[in-house]
Amino acid sequence: MKVLVHSSAELAQQSVCDVLTARILAHPASVIGLATGGTMEAVYDKLILSITRKAVPVRELLTFNLDEYWGLAPNHPASYRSYMNARLFDPAGIPRERTFLPVADAVEPDAESEAYEQRIREAGGIDLQLLGIGQNGHIGFNEPTSSLASRTRLKTLTESTRKANRQYFGDDEETPKYAITMGIGTILDARECLLLATGESKAEAVSRMIEGPLGAHCPASALQLHPKATVVLDADAASELKLREYYQHVHPDGIDRQPTHG
Ligand code: GLP
Repeated sequence: MKVLVHSSAELAQQSVCDVLTARILAHPASVIGLATGGTMEAVYDKLILSITRKAVPVRELLTFNLDEYWGLAPNHPASYRSYMNARLFDPAGIPRERTFLPVADAVEPDAESEAYEQRIREAGGIDLQLLGIGQNGHIGFNEPTSSLASRTRLKTLTESTRKANRQYFGDDEETPKYAITMGIGTILDARECLLLATGESKAEAVSRMIEGPLGAHCPASALQLHPKATVVLDADAASELKLREYYQHVHPDGIDRQPTHG
């Protein structure tokens, strides 16, 4: 696992934006896995600027999002489909028909989950999967105790996750109890994983992911199994890492000068 520690959230976000930009410039027909959440908002703002300024070709991309709340219509303001259209796809000029999220107002979650896996397979698999991390160590909506071999399916959200996402729903609305999410096995199939975490609230989950035991109690720890996983952090998110000095020695200022993984 490559651990890149930046001095600020801004630099960490910019470095993720730079990786995505370079990847799309080099391979315009890439299949990119995308994430939502507050952490990604600044990344997408920067990516839109970068795409515009550098005339990055985006019309051949295919994208697959990690997850979607179950039961929300795609046009619900708090759906991840609405988030992605507004925050990235429309302003960046990525054709909506080339972007995929689980359809979460489908009638039958198992059939939709299998269809989503099938769509990813038909696209040739995901080249680069962008990830955030929940305070409880979840990736996508794979809550603690998710099978490390899980595939796309309906998951029950924990109360702590529902509380963290309460802010996106109206006062008279209930935060969804379920979501369709790529499984941990689905995420590990991506040829490359890139996880961004910023802020002190993520420090404990980050230390369990990188330095803790591999286990379903911290779903993100499954990235320890991935041959090409990069974790980009700001100083606050890195604050509980025991080997922080080592990571900074290998990649001073979070700059990835060595194209090695391990
Ligand atoms: C959400 C999403 C995840 C996201 C995580 C962190 O619930 N399902 O994909 O990475 O939780 O969100 P945030 O960036 O808002 O802290």
